[in-house]
Amino acid sequence: MTYTFDFIVLGSGIAGLSYALKVAPFGNVAVITKKERAESNTNYAQGGVAAVMSAVDSFELHVEDTLSTGMGLSHRDAVEVLVREGPSRLRELVEIGVQFTRKNGVLDLGREGGHSVNRIVHAKDLTGREIERALLQAVSETPNIRVFENHTAVELITEHHAADAARGRQKSIHCWGVYALNSIEKRVDSFTSRVVLLSTGGLGQVYLHTTNPLIATGDGVAMAYRAGATIANMEFIQFHPTTLFNSGSPSFLISEAVRGFGGILRTQDGEEFMQAYDPRKSLAPRDIVAYAIDTELKRRGEEYVLLDLRHLPADEVREHFPYIEEVCRTRFKLDITREPIPVVPAAHYSCGGVVTDVDGRTSILGLYAAGEVGMTGVHGANRLASNSLLEALVFSDRGARASVEYLRSSAPPIPSVRPWDDSGTLNSEEWILVSHNRREIQQIMWDYVGIVRSNHRLERALRRVELMRNEVEPFYKKTRVTEGLIELRNLVQCAELIVRCAMQRKESRGLHVTTDYRERDDLHFLHDTIAE
Ligand code: SIN
Repeated sequence: MTYTFDFIVLGSGIAGLSYALKVAPFGNVAVITKKERAESNTNYAQGGVAAVMSAVDSFELHVEDTLSTGMGLSHRDAVEVLVREGPSRLRELVEIGVQFTRKNGVLDLGREGGHSVNRIVHAKDLTGREIERALLQAVSETPNIRVFENHTAVELITEHHAADAARGRQKSIHCWGVYALNSIEKRVDSFTSRVVLLSTGGLGQVYLHTTNPLIATGDGVAMAYRAGATIANMEFIQFHPTTLFNSGSPSFLISEAVRGFGGILRTQDGEEFMQAYDPRKSLAPRDIVAYAIDTELKRRGEEYVLLDLRHLPADEVREHFPYIEEVCRTRFKLDITREPIPVVPAAHYSCGGVVTDVDGRTSILGLYAAGEVGMTGVHGANRLASNSLLEALVFSDRGARASVEYLRSSAPPIPSVRPWDDSGTLNSEEWILVSHNRREIQQIMWDYVGIVRSNHRLERALRRVELMRNEVEPFYKKTRVTEGLIELRNLVQCAELIVRCAMQRKESRGLHVTTDYRERDDLHFLHDTIAE
């Protein structure tokens, strides 16, 4: 089946839905999403949206905090845009009905690591869910937007998929849509359009322990890379310092806002340890806190550290963190007001991705990216807490304006596109390989490409990942695609990109720490890593 729309949006998180609402007045929009519409990384975000919303704060301070956390690699132009346009985007969310937490009618601003003042706008500890709720409500009231649930993008449509007559005429690569697997009908459909937004979120599932939901398999980065887009900075994987120990998959996040509220990290014997790593102690940026925890665990041979809230008023803890308190109490039999929380780091966020300019344009014409899948240059070598939802809002808005302009002015017509061809492919009985391989790639990445790396570990990882790629690609070519296989292929692709970028960066900076090059080397590495 072939569908044609004016705009195609891949993913239904904050970036995709915000963009869809902005472009809907200019054409019809397909939002394609893997599961149900609310299932996105956004939905799991606890902390909030960082924005300059108080008199004690300033654009300069937020810019400075973002740049200093990014360790020299954040692009100042993108950071300025992020910070200056943030408050307006946030007010738009309020206008569509997002209920942020207020105190005496004024937004309650929380604190997180690396921020020099309180600036986290939040909805208790379920900010992402509240934003997603309001955006979905607005989308449901917008007739021009059609949401395709249970559709997994397989491949972007480019010149490569055009019928012969159109091939070779274009000098640059264009994106004209996507092939997507309808998981219910078990059929690959063609969705064509002159503008596509990638807003597929993150890739945390590359790692064994992650805060990301099962859908976060790096589909956007992998597809864009295969289509020829520029990808950068994949070595900068952010590990969230505090997820509940042994909480299953995905790991249950204990928001950084808990430390912002006064939670203290301690070793199992009750000792505070963060002062040895950073004067900001438990409120240092995430790269430092995750590294400190990892170091203490290895030094002591222990499995977790403790996040202690017992000194804080119990009723205030319950009031500020109702979700975390309830999940810990009911699901994990842990009263966080009376017992310290056992925590460990887990993969949380990819600072690299599909390179875009400040208007969301990728290196492929007609292909835009916003949210975690994109690499605007804001985060550099480490992301400042709660800048991610903000980035998604600001750059999806700019991407929407740029896409509308592109559609009006220079977007060429859609050529005739070949339908998906799965003749000659087989239904395989060997699905078990898929799940085994997924687990294997996660284990490899966790063991060899984690918080602390080395040449030796990266080389081991690369050999194993290449082996998996050489197994998965032929399997993909001869087998009828399934969601599991598509995801596995993308996970392997992303793993390889992460390892290859990490191997290029022969220094330690931000989220990339290697025992072979312990120092930051501005002379040779003060630049993005372009994936080869
Ligand atoms: C958190 O609540 O700690 C996550 C927020 C973020 O990733 O910025």
